[in-house]
Amino acid sequence: MKVLVAGGAGYIGSHTCKALAEAGHTPIVYDSLHTGHSWAIKWGAFERGDLNDAATLGAVLKRHRPDAVINFAALAYVGDSVREPNHYYRVNVGGLLTLIETMRAHDVGAMVFSSSCATYGEPDRQPIDEDTRQFPISPYGRTKLVGEMMLSDACAAHGLGAVALRYFNAAGADAAGETGEEHDPETHLIPLVLQAAAGVRPHISIFGSDYDTPDGTCIRDYIHVTDLAAAHVAALSVCAPGKFAAFNLGTGTGTSINEIITHACAITGKNIPVVPASRRPGDPPRLVANASRAAAGLKWRPLHSTPENIIETAWRWMTEHRQRVVK
Ligand code: UFG
Repeated sequence: MKVLVAGGAGYIGSHTCKALAEAGHTPIVYDSLHTGHSWAIKWGAFERGDLNDAATLGAVLKRHRPDAVINFAALAYVGDSVREPNHYYRVNVGGLLTLIETMRAHDVGAMVFSSSCATYGEPDRQPIDEDTRQFPISPYGRTKLVGEMMLSDACAAHGLGAVALRYFNAAGADAAGETGEEHDPETHLIPLVLQAAAGVRPHISIFGSDYDTPDGTCIRDYIHVTDLAAAHVAALSVCAPGKFAAFNLGTGTGTSINEIITHACAITGKNIPVVPASRRPGDPPRLVANASRAAAGLKWRPLHSTPENIIETAWRWMTEHRQRVVK
């Protein structure tokens, strides 16, 4: 298949381009490079453009005639979304609307969409399955939920086939070191812990040690980016005209912040200074997926997502392949 990968120069997008190429598909990266990286474009053609630029997007669809689109192009900082909600709605919702309309105008009938466990907010039932009520608590989470609703409505009305993938905590890097994570600013736990291990940060702050969890720190379901990438390839084959489906992507196992730091000390062999800090507003104590629907519907299972492998690949990426990050 020919697949237009919007946001294909980003973290999960670039790993997915590699997985597509390895599976015999042809990725075409469509990216504005606002947050994506030109070094991450290694698999397939590149077209520079913004999701909200219907003219450029339309010309690209006309030129390449893709069979499907995978859409990663979005803003993804929860805190920023609280401060700048309009910007988030413009990019994540407005951009998706432009994409849906432009795909329709050019007869592209299938989309795989990056969604998030943030659409569930703070559910009282764990692990979280797809029928859990979606009640996001941040503008970011709301943009993703609105995106799912827009796609579901477009499927019903116009015969689009769409799959939303609700990621839990994406982490890790390509085992061969061909691409990896690099955000500016970095806000995610694992890269920050590893930067503290490398000595480029003085310490890691633990946001809250008094949660109702066994060690008092927040529990998350960390999923290796290579497993996420494989799920996108699998999702392409379940896009069916008129049908909308959503799948959780997680491991079903939670890991606490303290456990992540313990693993990181062992893997890096470094002392990681830890500083207790106050809770970060909006952090649920525990977010763990029930991913059995993806196992049945996508024939997908996480194969790379032990905390050890996630931290090991992220550490190698940071210290061997992308040394600039730790300089
Ligand atoms: N944390 C720290 N110190 C830090 C950074 C993070 O203690 O310096 C904690 C957070 O408070 C949280 C855990 O580590 O308890 C994981 O934090 P991340 O920022 O790595 O990830 P989140 O779980 O907050 O965010 C992820 C995705 C978002 C998504 C969100 C849904 O990255 O895109 O889950 O809740 F919106």
